[in-house]
Amino acid sequence: MAPMNKLRLGVLGSGTGSNLQAIFDAISMQRLSAVVACVISDVPDAYILERARSHRAPAFHIDPAPFKTKLEGEAEQRVIETLRKHKVDTVVLAGFMRIVKPGLLRAFPGRVLNIHPALLPSFPGLRAWEQALEYGVKVTGCTVHFVDEGTDTGPIIVQRPAPVLPGDTPETLHARIQEQEYLAYPEALQLLAAECLQVEGRRVELL
Ligand code: GAR
Repeated sequence: MAPMNKLRLGVLGSGTGSNLQAIFDAISMQRLSAVVACVISDVPDAYILERARSHRAPAFHIDPAPFKTKLEGEAEQRVIETLRKHKVDTVVLAGFMRIVKPGLLRAFPGRVLNIHPALLPSFPGLRAWEQALEYGVKVTGCTVHFVDEGTDTGPIIVQRPAPVLPGDTPETLHARIQEQEYLAYPEALQLLAAECLQVEGRRVELL
């Protein structure tokens, strides 16, 4: 059998990068056929950049100014150039706390993925675990989806549930959701690497 192609991942994140760590772990355990080609953050001292460097992955801070909540204009162009320079074929949003705009989506059509800490379409947007706790749901979880021009609206690839337990705080619930994220992102990426995904409108079919 021919060896599976390795995805060349460009990971964008703003925070601690624990999902990036899960991706590195899945690669080293041969559960994911991929290489992290580069990591980009909009936050200069984000720990995700440290994690990347400690795994010898090229890591860059790109200043998103003048925008506060989105990636657009000159910064978007610099991100696209950096991803192309590192021959990225799949863009992985891993705790990237900005709205990506059509420029990036057009540069990597059908190849931008995001992880969201809720079972979409419930609780899109920020701090989804707090939204779930406040609403009083008994089950929440995480979603890996293709990114489209909406906020957390793209076709869903993988979802994993996490229970809400009595006495949960936002921190304990987020931590339980993240345990599921560390399984869901490598699983979704491996389905992409194995060319097992077919998007039909909103639905992602497994081949
Ligand atoms: C993750 O829980 C991810 O789902 C969330 O940020 C966290 C990043 O953690 N993303 C969003 O809320 C996007 N709207 P990490 O930096 O440790 O991977």
